[in-house]
Amino acid sequence: MIPYCSICWQDNRVRLLDQRRLPREEVYLETGDYRQVIEAIRTLAIRGAPAIGVAAAMAAALGALEITTDDSAEFRRGFQEILREIAQARPTAVNLFWALERMAQVAESHAGEPVAALKERLVREAQAILKEDDTINRHLAAHGQGLIPEGARVLTHCNTGALATGAYGTALGVLRAAWEAGRRFSVWVDETRPLLQGARLTTWELGKIGIPYTLIPDGAAAFLMQKGQVDLVIVGADRIAGNGDTANKIGTYGLAVLARYHGVPFYVAAPLSTFDFALTDGSQIPVEERAPEEITTLWGEPVAPPGAPALNLAFDITPNELISGIITERGIATPPYPSSLKPWKRLTG
Ligand code: MRU
Repeated sequence: MIPYCSICWQDNRVRLLDQRRLPREEVYLETGDYRQVIEAIRTLAIRGAPAIGVAAAMAAALGALEITTDDSAEFRRGFQEILREIAQARPTAVNLFWALERMAQVAESHAGEPVAALKERLVREAQAILKEDDTINRHLAAHGQGLIPEGARVLTHCNTGALATGAYGTALGVLRAAWEAGRRFSVWVDETRPLLQGARLTTWELGKIGIPYTLIPDGAAAFLMQKGQVDLVIVGADRIAGNGDTANKIGTYGLAVLARYHGVPFYVAAPLSTFDFALTDGSQIPVEERAPEEITTLWGEPVAPPGAPALNLAFDITPNELISGIITERGIATPPYPSSLKPWKRLTG
């Protein structure tokens, strides 16, 4: 039993675990203001693609509650404006846009109803997105857990656990399901520069589940693979193009290249809400560029000379040919992806 929730809806307010403050303190941020939820997404108080999707839906529901008109057309115009604001929060995780699209569709397909009824529907839809995410991740984990052999030394990057989702996790969910099935293994946790999602969050979550782990600097993965100490790599995703090219935390592509060179399987775990079938390949995925200060400072202290030029790309794109399998709630797709992903394109379309 995991005694925390990344995000939930309570009495028309959003309650989320402030991940900026982990692992030092477990502080929940509570708000009824959708702008504060946008700010929480932007500043990574809540992060991870599926969790961003849930937060976006809840921000939309809060925004809907704030609109004061009784006129349905005016309400829907105001709601569209709020959705556009939320869409600016972060660009790469497609779950954000997927969730906003679901919320927009609810408003449009019930356009004839009184505003109060529409608001209720939107609140219910946001809650449904959270609940579904839990179920989806458990299915995904059940499909993937057999890939983790007894005694394996697994390497993971960034954070893909319950914190990064509505509940349970994706790549970390796969590890959790394998552990709950009685398999015993250990995890190399990449610290994940610059914001240390691995060091701060993945270690925290693995510790709570009881899975043994060892934290490593990102640059150590190559040497560990060379020494034969990594049996498989498993990561999450922020957006997967129609051909399987995958955007995930910066550093993921490097791991995939290393894994191929050393003959180590490299898996991606993500729900279908992370697929963007409108994009034919990864070159079309927008990659977020964040403030240089995230790499030129550490806990507010400068670690580079004043004014040092710095490039802070938050994600990279792993080409499909480096991915051994993509684990979803519908099963595991294997190469060649353009054809193995095709049935899921129909499901999401
Ligand atoms: O910048 P972040 O912390 O939101 O980046 C998160 C990741 O890259 C995760 O690996 C991805 O969103 C999958 S979370 C299940």
